[in-house]
Amino acid sequence: MVEILRTPDALAAFRASHGTARRLAMVPTMGFLHEGHVSLLRGARRLVPSEHGTVLLTIFVNPTQFADNEDLGVYPRDEAGDLAKAEACGVDVAFCPTDPALLYPSRQTWVDVEGLSTGLCGGSRPRHFRGVCTIVAKLWGLARPDVAVFGEKDFQQLAILRRMHADLFLCGEIVSMPIVRGPDGLAMSSRNSKLSVQARAQALSIPALLAEVRRRFSEGQRTSAQLLDDATRQLQPGVVDYVEMVDAQDLSRVQTVVAPTLVAVAARFGGVRLIDNTVLRP
Ligand code: PAJ
Repeated sequence: MVEILRTPDALAAFRASHGTARRLAMVPTMGFLHEGHVSLLRGARRLVPSEHGTVLLTIFVNPTQFADNEDLGVYPRDEAGDLAKAEACGVDVAFCPTDPALLYPSRQTWVDVEGLSTGLCGGSRPRHFRGVCTIVAKLWGLARPDVAVFGEKDFQQLAILRRMHADLFLCGEIVSMPIVRGPDGLAMSSRNSKLSVQARAQALSIPALLAEVRRRFSEGQRTSAQLLDDATRQLQPGVVDYVEMVDAQDLSRVQTVVAPTLVAVAARFGGVRLIDNTVLRP
């Protein structure tokens, strides 16, 4: 059975009694678990087998990373289903706070990674990463994990959290896992459940675009002009937020691929905002 913890105090007490002889792997999520989350949980279990430690899943739809006009109110939730999947993945403990104590009373304290947070998703979601970093820092402080596992689907989030982890001298380490896709190529996302049949079909233009960029790259094209030519048109009739090529380390704009380069896409189909990416390695 997965042990369920509901309050920050309960998580802190769990951590204190856990001790340091066994390792603790943490997988932060907003729930409505899909195969992408499952791969992180299984990855965490491989990193910390049962005989050596504990896998902690956290499920919290974090209001501070949603802007007022975003989909917090309709974000999908299914705690019972999530816990059943967690159990099947060998998760030991789930932190599912219903308690606003995770956000209060310290609503005056924010963790903001500057620079890396300004481009890509930070452009259209200005305070999003501040909300993400603050909640992950709180989870980190409570759980003090030996390892925390994040997905490469949220590549910018991962880069920002790595920066935060280093800059705040947090304990443990961050491990990342590759993007998990459905059989049709669409990256798994909790928000996919909000896509109509038609919007889902149109959203396949995102993985199709990334595949086309990879094809051009494999043929030797190296400039963003060559690689991304027509990109925005290929995503019609989606509402494109951005299609960009940036350095995979510092997320600065890239004109020519000479080092690992992230091709990142954000677009809306039927009102549902999706992100995806691929990394080109010369
Ligand atoms: P959420 O969107 O639920 O994602 C939780 C974790 O699952 C993230 O590390 C994300 O990158 C990973 N993930 C999502 N879809 C994936 C896919 N198709 N393949 C691989 N990994 C995938 O990201 C968040 O929640 C929140 O911002 C959070 C970090 C929990 C802070 O609130």
